[in-house]
Amino acid sequence: MGFFWSLAMRRAVVWVMLAGSLWAQSVAAQSVNDGRLLASGCFQCHGTSGLKGGFGTLAGMGKEDMLNKLNNDMRSKDARSSIMNPHARGYTSYQLTLIADYFSKLPKP
Ligand code: HEC
Repeated sequence: MGFFWSLAMRRAVVWVMLAGSLWAQSVAAQSVNDGRLLASGCFQCHGTSGLKGGFGTLAGMGKEDMLNKLNNDMRSKDARSSIMNPHARGYTSYQLTLIADYFSKLPKP
């Protein structure tokens, strides 16, 4: 292989690697679990992945159960002074659904 050829080859390899990593990144971005991303805001108090937090385990909690608590109990006026109130109100109902869906699919510890 001449010098020119090896240079071209090297460029091709770099290009393929770059294209490959861009592709991998876009696949990763697409498959990022939106629920987990949103739920990461809960990890601080409820533990990473809803496990072993200081304030109750969320991993494996029933989806309807969690949504009921978040949408009704915790968002209500009566709950204004609770720690969970601003968190329950800080997300749209759709986001809470994604969050509850994420936690409900984790194995119960
Ligand atoms: C700043 C700390 C903090 C953060 C952040 C937080 N929580 Fe909580 N959470 C609490 C506390 C304290 C309680 C228990 C007392 C209460 O109900 O207010 C609780 C209770 C709960 C309960 C009821 C648990 C049970 O066993 O009935 C659920 C469900 C819940 N949180 C979900 C979430 C979700 C979902 C998020 C993220 C969107 C979140 N929490 C973020 C502090 C937090």
